[in-house]
Amino acid sequence: MRLKYSIIISFVCSFVFSQGNYFAPGKQWKDTDGVHINAHGGGVIFVDGTYYWYGEYKTSGRGGNTSLKGVSCYSSKDLYNWKNEGIVLKVEQDPNSEITKGCIIERPKVVFNKKTGKYVMWFHLELKGQGYDAARAAVAISDNPKGPFEFKKSYRANKGVWPMNFNDKFKSAAINENALKSWSPEWREAIKNGMLVRRDFEKGQMSRDMTVYVDDDNKAYLVHAAEDNLTLHISELTDDYLDFTEKWTRVEPAGHNEAPAIFKKDGVYYMITSGCTGWDPNEARSFKSKSIWGPWKSLGNPCVGKDASLTFHSQSTYVLPVEGKKDQFIFMADRWKPDNPIDGTYVWLPVKFNNGKPVLEWLETWNLAVFSKKQ
Ligand code: DGJ
Repeated sequence: MRLKYSIIISFVCSFVFSQGNYFAPGKQWKDTDGVHINAHGGGVIFVDGTYYWYGEYKTSGRGGNTSLKGVSCYSSKDLYNWKNEGIVLKVEQDPNSEITKGCIIERPKVVFNKKTGKYVMWFHLELKGQGYDAARAAVAISDNPKGPFEFKKSYRANKGVWPMNFNDKFKSAAINENALKSWSPEWREAIKNGMLVRRDFEKGQMSRDMTVYVDDDNKAYLVHAAEDNLTLHISELTDDYLDFTEKWTRVEPAGHNEAPAIFKKDGVYYMITSGCTGWDPNEARSFKSKSIWGPWKSLGNPCVGKDASLTFHSQSTYVLPVEGKKDQFIFMADRWKPDNPIDGTYVWLPVKFNNGKPVLEWLETWNLAVFSKKQ
């Protein structure tokens, strides 16, 4: 009897809550059970007619940014209506596990590896009780987009390997860098000249905010905030996407970029990032390059209009190409709520282009039809 009622209730709920046909940036976004979607710092993939959205599962209260459950997944056929598929990577109870309950898991991104047939999840991992010091890249795999994902390992990137085109004279310090005052012009110059690359050379480079980008030739790259968030690194992944090839480069040394999101249009790579102000929003930045390895040219703030200097009170996490549609890209961002992280909302906006630059404009509500209008 009880089962019968719960089937009826869940049928009624899915009918009532699955009627969405538009995006409402920054508002509560209910899943097909009527519960606000809990997938922060997320990314989306498309598999056989279904989109899967993976993100950080947050909880209530000040501690809600630590991972008490793991990584959540939602599925959708139309991008508006999302069904909760549960926790696909679970934190572990074993206190010795690297992903023990209470660690920090941020910005999970899943990609499919055509060669191995596996779904590969990369994420930013901080070990329990160590604040943001560990700064590790972590990887998990699954045979199915709905998981379960099996945790493989976590580590610093590119241990003992210099970046491509790194000037030989930067491989050792020319001056006493410890004496430099933080944020002074000399200090900035030292950062540009690889001061922190050298510091982290033996133990590996940091990996905090990150994304994974799979190129048209199926090569994949981890884009990660390194060097105390001062410089982005782009690190090529091995063919199985589980490791680094040791080919890597630095983007915008001392530029202080976080929250990278990459996409490609007409053979040109675009990247949207944020500045670094913790959970508070700041002005987004955009870049373009003809090669993933750079040089990346700055295009300035892609946002226009009211609150453009605060990325509409959000921070980038991913740019989603709409499946099968040329030049349709959705900018995905988070409105963090550090006091009650579970309340964080999502800002999804269409990416428009003007003179070869990505442009983001605030819309109270919108749907995919905006893409058919002339830009
Ligand atoms: C900003 C980052 O983008 C977030 O992912 C998170 O790491 C916070 N900083 C922590 O302050």
